[in-house]
Amino acid sequence: MAGFNLYHLARPLLMAMDAEKAHNLTIKALKTGLMPPLGGRDPAVLATRVFGIDFPNPVGLAAGFDKNAEVPDAMLGLGFGFVECGTVTPRPQDGNPKPRLFRVPNVRGVINRFGFNNAGLDVYCTHLRQRHGRPGIVGGNVGKNKETADAATDYVACIERVAPLVNYLVVNVSSPNTPGLRTLQSRDALAHLLGQCLEARTRSGTRPPLLLKVAPDLTEEDKADIAAVVLDSGIDGLIVSNTTLARPADIPAELASQAGGLSGAPLMAPSTRVLGEFYRLLGGRLPLVGVGGIASGADAYAKIRAGASLVQFYSAMVYEGPGLVGRVKAELARLLAADGYLTVAEAVGADHRAPRRTAQE
Ligand code: FNR
Repeated sequence: MAGFNLYHLARPLLMAMDAEKAHNLTIKALKTGLMPPLGGRDPAVLATRVFGIDFPNPVGLAAGFDKNAEVPDAMLGLGFGFVECGTVTPRPQDGNPKPRLFRVPNVRGVINRFGFNNAGLDVYCTHLRQRHGRPGIVGGNVGKNKETADAATDYVACIERVAPLVNYLVVNVSSPNTPGLRTLQSRDALAHLLGQCLEARTRSGTRPPLLLKVAPDLTEEDKADIAAVVLDSGIDGLIVSNTTLARPADIPAELASQAGGLSGAPLMAPSTRVLGEFYRLLGGRLPLVGVGGIASGADAYAKIRAGASLVQFYSAMVYEGPGLVGRVKAELARLLAADGYLTVAEAVGADHRAPRRTAQE
């Protein structure tokens, strides 16, 4: 609880600071290792097995918070069931000019146009190697450098080196802040890229599950194509979704005009809709990770019922702090139990099935 109280003291200061400076300070504080772990054992109802991995709970930290794999263990200590580090690119890069991160407080949203700022693959792998063998599920999210023409070479370079150091891999083709990246979601480009990525994983000599992370801004045709390619390719799962280019009407004009991806509460409904569509298109044959706008146990439960086997969040932590992880888990456990579910897995995709009969009926 000490960490929680510390956060309450620090919150006004962090919120008054430039958003990127506040983030960097948070990472620094987490790196000191002085933050006490929050919460104890997870309720048994939250334990779940996905991709052949046993997760203590289905609530993960989304990519982008820990781009350089500096603090995965501190974040696991906050109670996340898994932590995704990255996006990493082969070579270090600065990303876009600052400012490039904006809070949208009236809707609890965030707009970012970082552009894969990161310290590069060498630093990322060094950090992961230092923690390798410790308990806790860590995913490696990989991308491409801005200047690389042949995208697949960058993804391949990352996968060959990251695969032995993580529990799962994510091919990120859905950031709106790297020119051309999202075109890798089109059918032929995606089929080629995923084929190369799977071969790279084979060459790595290890076989962590390989997931694809997609955007929420997709046409019906895009979604059908992605589902077909994903099933055909033999990858292990899909993460739905990255940030959106859309700007709902309640975003103030001066912020709505900022280029970048919108995340947080305004993304909850649209990303959950896309998640449900992929669940239907894939016929439940591939596990889905639901991400976008989660700020409560009810939000996490909605994603699970729409088809997510696991969920992640990031933006809500900007407003709620680290105590949110425990609150989301406790509320989710209550909601599952109230509906008579003994496991998370039983509730996955429930919205697509006829309601279960209860004992009273
Ligand atoms: C992100 N996100 C992200 N995703 C990714 O795959 N690689 C990345 O490097 C980043 N970087 C990043 C930075 C910032 C500041 C934010 C807010 C988000 C997207 C993130 O993982 C997630 O998909 C979306 O933010 C939606 O979830 P939330 O934030 O609404 O819970």
